[in-house]
Amino acid sequence: MITKIKEAVAYIQNIHTAKPLAGIVLGSGLGSFTSGMKIEKEIAYSEIPHFPVSTVEGHSGKLIFGELGGKSVVAMAGRFHYYEGYTPEEVVFPIRVMKFLGISTILISNAAGGMNLDFKVGDLMVIKDHISLFTINPLIGKNIEELGPRFPDMSEPYSNILINKAKAIAAKENIELKEGIYCGVTGPTFETRAEYKLLHIIGGDAVGMSTVQEVIASVHMGLTVFAMSVITDIGIREEQNKITHEEVLQAAKEAEPKLTHIFKELIAGL
Ligand code: HPA
Repeated sequence: MITKIKEAVAYIQNIHTAKPLAGIVLGSGLGSFTSGMKIEKEIAYSEIPHFPVSTVEGHSGKLIFGELGGKSVVAMAGRFHYYEGYTPEEVVFPIRVMKFLGISTILISNAAGGMNLDFKVGDLMVIKDHISLFTINPLIGKNIEELGPRFPDMSEPYSNILINKAKAIAAKENIELKEGIYCGVTGPTFETRAEYKLLHIIGGDAVGMSTVQEVIASVHMGLTVFAMSVITDIGIREEQNKITHEEVLQAAKEAEPKLTHIFKELIAGL
């Protein structure tokens, strides 16, 4: 694993020498986020040794190096989901590569279904904690000591400092920011009515098919993590509860400017 990471890093550094301070993971429908970035270099995942290749609609599949908020960053346009058939190790491989490129902070976004009845489509939810539901832990197997400890602490996976900063940024711009617990599931089916209800009862505010494995790998390596969901549908509704991928992408696209602003200001303050 370490050899694979180092080969990917060597390939990237041979093309582009910047040392990014922060990594950004863009969720479904959030690909145009990078228009706010001063782009220096784009590298397709397909070129990088050992990188899996993204297949889902709305994910273009490249690493984008540039400047955001005056800081050097690397953004993943397109991520790898467990439901696509990638192993948990493949899902988190780019996160590990970004760490070896030098990042110390990671900002993650995703599209998620809402269970909290105070939420509406288009809301942004800061993730304050998560519940992993049947997503396979990417650290299962022999621990790689060069990456982190065998038993990582998960008492504060999402940095309270960054959460508080995000709230202050949002308040200043009059952006309404929700806060809650993200349930990570495997997908690819959206939840049944009974499942949304269950997730609500166990304390979930939003549910999605990404993020948890990436956060675990990030915490393992000692990265500071911030993550935010765009609420793209309200799963808990009694009526009209059909959810489509198109509706998810559309809602994410509409919420994108707010998300971009918060990420940019958070990075500016690093
Ligand atoms: N469930 C799971 N994943 C999702 C949802 C949802 O309702 N919306 C967007 N991603």
